Amino acid sequence: IAHEYGALTFVDEVHAVGLYGEHGAGIGEREGQLHNMDIISGTLGKAFGNVGGYIAGTSLLVDMIRSYAAGFIFTTSLPPTVLCGALKAVDILASEEGRQLRARHQDNVRYLRQRLQEEGFPVEHTPSHIIPVKIGNPLQCTQVSDQMIQRFGHYVQAINYPTVARGEEKLRLAPTPHHTRAMMDEMVRDLKVVWQDLKMPLGGKHCPEECTYCRKPLLFDRFEARTNATAASCARELNCQIPNCPQIAAVAN
Ligand SMILES: Cc1ncc(COP(=O)(O)O)c(C=O)c1O
Repeated sequence: IAHEYGALTFVDEVHAVGLYGEHGAGIGEREGQLHNMDIISGTLGKAFGNVGGYIAGTSLLVDMIRSYAAGFIFTTSLPPTVLCGALKAVDILASEEGRQLRARHQDNVRYLRQRLQEEGFPVEHTPSHIIPVKIGNPLQCTQVSDQMIQRFGHYVQAINYPTVARGEEKLRLAPTPHHTRAMMDEMVRDLKVVWQDLKMPLGGKHCPEECTYCRKPLLFDRFEARTNATAASCARELNCQIPNCPQIAAVAN
């Protein structure tokens, strides 16, 4: 639509580069949509484990942005040591080793999400590798995070306002490919202790925010299946009777 109406598209792939796509180029690569993305921003932090960032686009567009950006003249450039590390990380994540890491990562995300759901934690419905656990109270959110690190040594990020709207406070859990199932089991067990000590409820409605349209809690697996390009068959499995269900449309496309 953007291109039809003469607009540029800008996509922030900071949370996706290194983690999705055949060569780790992000969701755009996974979805075969890179040609529709005029400017992509990425970070050399997060998946690439370094610091710094970049934009990708046509050389003219990049040159225009660089020329107008305040950082071009007045900021020290990233040191070669950092860039060497980042370049190596990009190489690794574009390789077969990277593909294996991504597969392990997705496997761990699936496992951890499932374990949390089994224990009755209010896991929010999202196909992301970042697993949100809704708390809805900033004080409790911080308390859970503090106790997890202080009592058990687990780093669990609390997300409060202004990152999320008030009332939407949550934990964001992000397993790595290197976490073992034993580690994740331990984390879930310790989270349960903290949760219960703070007298927070468990075992509420399973995944209350699934597809707002058809209410099917199946999206996680189906979205992951898109990575393997088996989407067409997924839509049939979802078996939703509601016409134009966006969830069905999403997996079918
Ligand atoms: C969506 C998004 N874009 C950009 C950034 C900035 O990333 P960096 O500080 O690594 O450049 C972040 C950081 O968390 C982010 O979440």
